Amino acid sequence: MQDKNLKILVVGSGGREHTLAKVCHQSPLVDQVMVAPGNAGIAQEFNTLALDVADNQKLVELAKVNSVDLVVVGPEVPLCNGAVDALNDVGILAYGPDKAGAQLEGSKAYTKDFLAKYKIPTADYGNFTEIAPALEYLAACNLPVVVKASGLAAGKGVLICLSLEEAEDAVKDMLSGDSFGDSGKEVVIEEFLEGEETSLHLVCSGESYVSMPMSQDHKKVGEGDSGLNTGGMGAYAPTKLVTEDMLKSYEKSIVRPTLAGLKSEGVNFRGTLYIGLMLTSKGPKVLEFNVRFGDPETQVILPLLEDDLVPLLLTSARGESMPNRVKFKEASSMVVVLTSAGYPEAYPKNEPISIRQPLPEGSEVIFAGVGENENGEIVSAGGRVLGAVGTGATLQDAKEKAYALSEQIEFESKYLRKDIGHREFSRA
Ligand SMILES: Nc1ncnc2c1ncn2[C@@H]1O[C@H](COP(=O)(O)OP(=O)(O)O)[C@@H](O)[C@H]1O
Ligand SMILES: [Mg+2]
Repeated sequence: MQDKNLKILVVGSGGREHTLAKVCHQSPLVDQVMVAPGNAGIAQEFNTLALDVADNQKLVELAKVNSVDLVVVGPEVPLCNGAVDALNDVGILAYGPDKAGAQLEGSKAYTKDFLAKYKIPTADYGNFTEIAPALEYLAACNLPVVVKASGLAAGKGVLICLSLEEAEDAVKDMLSGDSFGDSGKEVVIEEFLEGEETSLHLVCSGESYVSMPMSQDHKKVGEGDSGLNTGGMGAYAPTKLVTEDMLKSYEKSIVRPTLAGLKSEGVNFRGTLYIGLMLTSKGPKVLEFNVRFGDPETQVILPLLEDDLVPLLLTSARGESMPNRVKFKEASSMVVVLTSAGYPEAYPKNEPISIRQPLPEGSEVIFAGVGENENGEIVSAGGRVLGAVGTGATLQDAKEKAYALSEQIEFESKYLRKDIGHREFSRA
């Protein structure tokens, strides 16, 4: 098949999917991009199709009816639910890991055993399904200690416990099924690591891969990285935190052993491997894997791509060898996430959003948690409402554009962090 006039279907409804759709749409190989289900903001730019992303049969039907050439699955839920397997079973090309590969995100307990088996650096841990042995293990742990629900928990399943009592309560609440349902029926108890976090995105096809620029997210809701954990308040790329030489050493100690290990386990990993790292005084340690692009990291990584993304997605989806290298722009990108005040706890919804035009050059609005009211206005509908992205020659330029754009966007409870990138700006 010659790759032209392609129809691409992006699955998901957040900022990541809006960015993926935009970048795919820029490809000269692509004729049409559809998003399922998308959101009201994405619908201003792309055709959106109704879909419950956990419904594989409906997804297969949509792809067939619309003669889709490539399905790009954004979120972890459909990946862990076998969406790619269902599409591949009927001969539809899909970007993302199959269900076996998606276990790296779907089960933290599986991942910890995998990391231990292949001697990939990670925090010391124990996996438990029963309360008594978990409490016994906890009693011997140093504080703070980290308790994680093994299954998918939409970024809410990790507790950093300062006291033994807090850790014991977390373990009991999880294992009883009270706090995270089935996702908490197995827990990982983990050593607390100190250091700076960063993430590495790879587009993989079995043991071959290309790496994307290293990025840094800001998980805490408050300035100076204070307050509760969120899905991510902003991100930038690239970061000086990781030099070329450091990246090479991570490839040797982490990336290649991971992909080789997966192969030994019979997993031909295709799609995005997101490696969450903690850079500790004893070297980098894997905090977690995700099996899809990060959100909001996607919003800052993909604008830096000089080469066309679509051939990379196709090569991975077909299981062919990835190219040796990919070109990135000599530029920086920043996204500032505009949230509804109150998030990650209760927050107001249905507030009309206005965006003053024209947008600053080099900036773009990425729609995440938005809907539409009865007057057809775009309104807030989630905690993370939209992303203000700036791309420029330097991180300072990118920051100025992202923040200038964020001032052109208004809704009543708009909240944002004013210090995205603060660690990078304080580096020599
Ligand atoms: N062992 C650890 N030591 C210190 N902090 C941790 C540890 N594990 C996780 N964290 C913190 O918790 C956050 C969420 O944990 P993670 O394993 O990435 O789960 P998820 O993203 O699925 O919620 C991490 O980004 C990190 O800030
Ligand atoms: Mg994480």
